[in-house]
Amino acid sequence: MPRIQIDGKPVEVSDGLNLIEAARLLNIEIPHYCYHSGLSVVGSCRMCQIELEFNGRKSIALGCNTLAADGMQITTTSDEIRSIRRAVLEFYLQHHPLDCPICDDAGECDLQNYYMEHGLHDSRVDLAEKKHKHKVIDVGPTVVLDSERCVLCTRCVRFCREIVGKDQLGVYGHGSDAELMNVPGTKLDNDYAGNVVDLCPVGALTDKDFRFKRRVWYLKRTPSVCTGCSRGCNISIDWETSRSYKDSGRRIQRLKPRYNKMVNEWWICDRGRYSYHAVDAPNRLLMPISNAEEREHGVSIIAVLARAAAKIEAVIDQNGPASIAVLGSAHSSDEDLFMLKRLFADHLKVQNIDVNLPGEANGSEDQILMKADLAPNRRGAQAIGAVPWGGEGQNGEAILEGAREGEFEILIIVDHDLTQYLGEKALHKLRKHTGYILYLSSHSNGMSEIADDVLPLAMWAERAATYTNFQGRIQRTSQAFDPLGLATPEWKYWYELAAMLGCKCDYETPQEVFNAIGEHTESFKGLRWDDLGDQGLMLTDAPEPAYRKIQCPNPLPAY
Ligand code: SF4
Ligand code: SF4
Ligand code: FES
Repeated sequence: MPRIQIDGKPVEVSDGLNLIEAARLLNIEIPHYCYHSGLSVVGSCRMCQIELEFNGRKSIALGCNTLAADGMQITTTSDEIRSIRRAVLEFYLQHHPLDCPICDDAGECDLQNYYMEHGLHDSRVDLAEKKHKHKVIDVGPTVVLDSERCVLCTRCVRFCREIVGKDQLGVYGHGSDAELMNVPGTKLDNDYAGNVVDLCPVGALTDKDFRFKRRVWYLKRTPSVCTGCSRGCNISIDWETSRSYKDSGRRIQRLKPRYNKMVNEWWICDRGRYSYHAVDAPNRLLMPISNAEEREHGVSIIAVLARAAAKIEAVIDQNGPASIAVLGSAHSSDEDLFMLKRLFADHLKVQNIDVNLPGEANGSEDQILMKADLAPNRRGAQAIGAVPWGGEGQNGEAILEGAREGEFEILIIVDHDLTQYLGEKALHKLRKHTGYILYLSSHSNGMSEIADDVLPLAMWAERAATYTNFQGRIQRTSQAFDPLGLATPEWKYWYELAAMLGCKCDYETPQEVFNAIGEHTESFKGLRWDDLGDQGLMLTDAPEPAYRKIQCPNPLPAY
């Protein structure tokens, strides 16, 4: 373990660490463009130069391609280094179009930031003499390139080659004519294309979805977890609600990857990146919907829950819990599923409980991040026990079959739109034979049209919750903003219903529900909300998987 000094501060670093990473351990940021912790080192931008004293010799070295060695003394802020950085910056800004006022990256651009920290020079090139390059280049379905802003760091090129294994961007031409372009015959259309916008250190690559939507300094950031598939990539929600006149009230402006070494490192897929549009979709359910007579006048949540409680009580009194079936959802959080189990399985002794249905939609899967299972919490549902139980319990498939034959008087359904699973005839039979259907959903759909009562669900950005990914890692989402309309987290409905049915629980918050899971559920034993931190924790019976670098199995060689 080399011991080195950076700006006079001693630090011991692990073998093989470069000086940019070593300095980060001391919260010292060495300016850089081409270096990215997740990509190969090319040492091309020259921005990371530092003063190095080693073995009695002084030199100027690159922070990115110099590995820490015992006894090194590094200076990152001397007059000489500052003047080198200023010169490098002047070179980069020589032909810069100075269009920061209309650039999406303004406020988070490393050209701007470094200029303010190290440049502050006047341009020696007259505006009229500046060299022009191509602008607004449509490099792919989601990304636009402005070549005049590009500093040719090749991060985007290396990302495509090394992480995705596709050659879709390259630098062509020489000297001041060099430009980033699509590799001839290709488009930037891989499933991870949006990441090039995140890793571009300047405003050269912008996201069509975010372009000109918000200035970044208006955005608020909330840590969360993508619920787009069972991987559970860590994300930040960048949101803003005070300018609702723009974009039809869209609250989430963009999702960004959040580093988690064991889940997604620095990346997310585009399926997850753009999944947030569902949160403010026009078909969000904003209030409870009830049966035909009440549809016109509206109905309160309490009235729906009271009716459901009365029906459940009556059916259990007359025919026992076997005449009730519950189709929960693997899209629900751990807290939702725990309260569902607590109420229906533990208290009411309903055995027909499942979250799995035959024919649930699958997505594409690869060996980078994307999982075919689009449900974020199937592992959590299993661990909590939202499954058929007691020997008599029927699984999702059997519940659907039984419902068509009139086996159940009450069906409780979360999220599943059965109109997508069943043919018209089967659906008609199910509806005809089931006395009462209570449906919980975040969006209106075919099922919300035919259920007797419908309750609106809050979505992941509107609530704090935990989800357990396919490996068994429990991770937290945080509430960014209030739910739309009367939408409510699922566990709260079960909590209220439980109270009406004589099952008193003492939970006010999702944190308290999670802590109760830690007390009552074997795989969560001893875990508490506060311990989960921002990187999550494994189920107590799931081993921590070995670290694997997130990249395709056949990366192309470094650029
Ligand atoms: S577009 Fe951005 S990431 Fe790509 S080479 Fe240019 S500056 Fe670097
Ligand atoms: S891989 Fe899955 S969890 Fe990760 S960003 Fe994509 S959809 Fe979301
Ligand atoms: S970061 Fe070292 S040369 Fe670019």
